[in-house]
Amino acid sequence: GAVELGPYRHYMQKEIFEQPRAIADTLEGVQAVTPALFDKTGASSQSGAAGAFAQIERVLILACGTSYYAGCVARDWIEALAALPCSVEIASEYRYRQSVPDARTLVVTVSQSGETADTLAALRHAQSLGMAHTLAICNVAASALARECRLALLTRAGVEIGVASTKAFTTQLVGLFLLALTLAKTRARLSAADEAAHLKALRHLPAALQAVLALEPQIISWASQFASKENALFLGRGLHYPIAQEGALKLKEISYIHAEAYAAGELKHGPLALVTSAMPVVTVAPNDALLEKLKSNLQEVRARGGVLYVLADAGTRIESGEGLHVIRMPEHYGLLSPILHAVPLQLLSYHTAVARGTDVDKPRNLAKSVTVE
Ligand code: G6P
Repeated sequence: GAVELGPYRHYMQKEIFEQPRAIADTLEGVQAVTPALFDKTGASSQSGAAGAFAQIERVLILACGTSYYAGCVARDWIEALAALPCSVEIASEYRYRQSVPDARTLVVTVSQSGETADTLAALRHAQSLGMAHTLAICNVAASALARECRLALLTRAGVEIGVASTKAFTTQLVGLFLLALTLAKTRARLSAADEAAHLKALRHLPAALQAVLALEPQIISWASQFASKENALFLGRGLHYPIAQEGALKLKEISYIHAEAYAAGELKHGPLALVTSAMPVVTVAPNDALLEKLKSNLQEVRARGGVLYVLADAGTRIESGEGLHVIRMPEHYGLLSPILHAVPLQLLSYHTAVARGTDVDKPRNLAKSVTVE
């Protein structure tokens, strides 16, 4: 039957608020970090994840759109935790480019629908180049992608109706983090204590997300300032650069405001020339090792009259002031912080679009699942 909107105005808003539940469901039954999480039901030990994970020496992630940005976050997790070289490619580019295949690659496809034509074609291209270790991180069990990959981890976001992906993205990140942990464990790089700590942090995510969702009133006030803008810049660094990219994509998709994202250290190589008081600069500011660098990037923007909107973790000592709007995020959430920082950016694009009166759930010219080239 039809999915009810309940108290929400749009499916996108409902799906944003479903994220604590979607993540809890995706983690249900995850007792320990084990390759079995990635086995399809009924898989034999030869065709299973344990065998594949022991053989591979690199990871290649293939995806489109929002799912591609989930892959970009995962690259850093996989390299940092498992010390495996990992590359991420846009599926529609990978399939047409002459790349150097390596049979000892774990090919990871990431897709909400499991039916995106370019992602499927990229998978088949990788297979045709002799790469047989294939894994789908996918939200639809019966999809072509989940069927055609040897291994699968199903996200349990539930049906996603809004064209702009939200709960599928954060559950993909959860699935990809489990993959990074599992690859680390396979390679004897995950102590029992670290495994327990990571699992604890994952299980606490739904509660942590509730605290972030409670920031909605503050984000609505930002959105009322964004509604009249025509351009916006999003900044992030490290693990949060793809989150800035995803924030810019969301704003474009549903509010039709032109937005682009930069790794903050690249500001001086071009986009600083664009900074005026007419262009809001949204910054993702976790309390991590890059914080001091990021603060000097923010100074560069302020010095040119740019207006900053900063999502700053507690403890960052970034305070609101002239030309500087701060929303205080809960405590820094370590490696999983991108999952928390994604959510206020979803809400910002949602409320900006609502203020502009666009068709939030069905933005012009876009499809939920692109099953043609
Ligand atoms: C379309 C949707 C996006 C989605 C992308 C990839 O562009 O509008 O929200 O991220 O396809 O879709 P997939 O189902 O493969 O994740």
